[in-house]
Amino acid sequence: MAQQQRGSFSSRLGFIAAAAGSAVGLGNIWKFPYETGLNGGAAFLVIYLFCVFIICMPILVAEITVGRHARQNPHGSYKKIGGGNWGVIGTIGIIVGIMILSFYNVVAGWAFGYFLQTSFGDLLSKGDFASYFGKYTANVTDNLIFSLAFMVATGLIVAGGVQKGIERWTKILMPVLLVIVLGLIVYGLTLPNAREGVSFYLVPDFSEVEAGTFFSALSQAFFSLSLGMGAIITYGSYFNKEDNIVSSAALVTTTDSLIAFLSGLLVFPLVFFQAQEPTEGPGLVFVALPGIFEQMGPMIGPLIGGTFFLLLCFAALTSTISLLEVPVAYVTDEFNVKRKPAVIGIASLIFLLGLPSMLAHGAVDWFTNFATYGGETHNFMTVLITIFSDIGLPFGGFMISIFVAYKWGMKRFADEIEHGHPHFRGRIEEKFVTVMLSFISPLVVGTILIITVLQSFFGIQVF
Ligand code: PHE
Repeated sequence: MAQQQRGSFSSRLGFIAAAAGSAVGLGNIWKFPYETGLNGGAAFLVIYLFCVFIICMPILVAEITVGRHARQNPHGSYKKIGGGNWGVIGTIGIIVGIMILSFYNVVAGWAFGYFLQTSFGDLLSKGDFASYFGKYTANVTDNLIFSLAFMVATGLIVAGGVQKGIERWTKILMPVLLVIVLGLIVYGLTLPNAREGVSFYLVPDFSEVEAGTFFSALSQAFFSLSLGMGAIITYGSYFNKEDNIVSSAALVTTTDSLIAFLSGLLVFPLVFFQAQEPTEGPGLVFVALPGIFEQMGPMIGPLIGGTFFLLLCFAALTSTISLLEVPVAYVTDEFNVKRKPAVIGIASLIFLLGLPSMLAHGAVDWFTNFATYGGETHNFMTVLITIFSDIGLPFGGFMISIFVAYKWGMKRFADEIEHGHPHFRGRIEEKFVTVMLSFISPLVVGTILIITVLQSFFGIQVF
């Protein structure tokens, strides 16, 4: 196998910034609130937090450890440690990541368009933000230009390499995002009917919970933590031997779920204040937020609103970087291609793969009403989300648990973790990670996946 000089992070903080940058993105601010809204509010939040900390955090540890041990892209990592055909599991992850980036980039383009329209356009004077969103996402020209711009920006940074490109931005921009979200939450909580939003979000009603709620919460947890497709294996492959994997994973998980939690606390009071529906779906954040920016008046509104959407773009950018880095690492590791041509080829391909998702919101009828299952007609982007994100990512998580526990073995796994965490063995976190990866995570994830696939695609009602 051809080997080029591989990059590495300059410090533990560099890894944490990059991994948290990958984790925090549209998944937290765009997807998490709308999934919570569609799945009944607080009960979903409780199940989501369970999935994040109990099921997914050990899988995060597993991905970092596998990547750091093998020092390879996901395909190479599985192959190097597992031998035989295990590389295929890594390859599936790489394909899943490519497909996720194809639609993610389109949503990032919406966020960029909203930044421009809020700051310099007339969005805030439109009043009916739901129909504005509908018109906006059907507008081919804007979407084409902005998602192309987004892919170019992602490509430029990834071409710059691991350290220079990826670490730097995240460290600066994430704290700024946190501050603006906190400020907006305080503002939102003072508005009329905010309490109703808070109780929708924080007072659980478990009578609404169904099998599908568990599936949505689980797949959202995988998506938000960037797990199940190899982004974290890849970043793990740049992680230093002397750093502590377990505490890094805990910090990334906490940061990611804090930002998701806060964006729910931001969105739902605004939804109830404006008498909107929490079940709005993928438009939720784009429909709920402009209303308060409008309230802030013609000077402050565009300023704060524009800053918010711009920071959302940066959060999305640190995630698209991690999504593009995976196939780029694969091609540079395995085929001795240089970084720059790899980036140009792969980014162009993914941009093209995103076109149907872009046209699936009213521009082209065939993509807009693409497939009917589970009693509803879905657009092309939703179909991609279902197959690659909702099913593909938990599948990847299931496979890595089995791989670590039964192929690599918990002993060698613990040996790797002991670098940088010399007292791992015998501690509570060792027992927790071992039990979770060997039994609970694969069992829970496998069961939920099987039930969902039976229910949604074959109409077999298990419960
Ligand atoms: N975690 C990212 C987000 O929440 C999305 C992502 C998924 C990134 C999978 C990488 C891999 O926005």
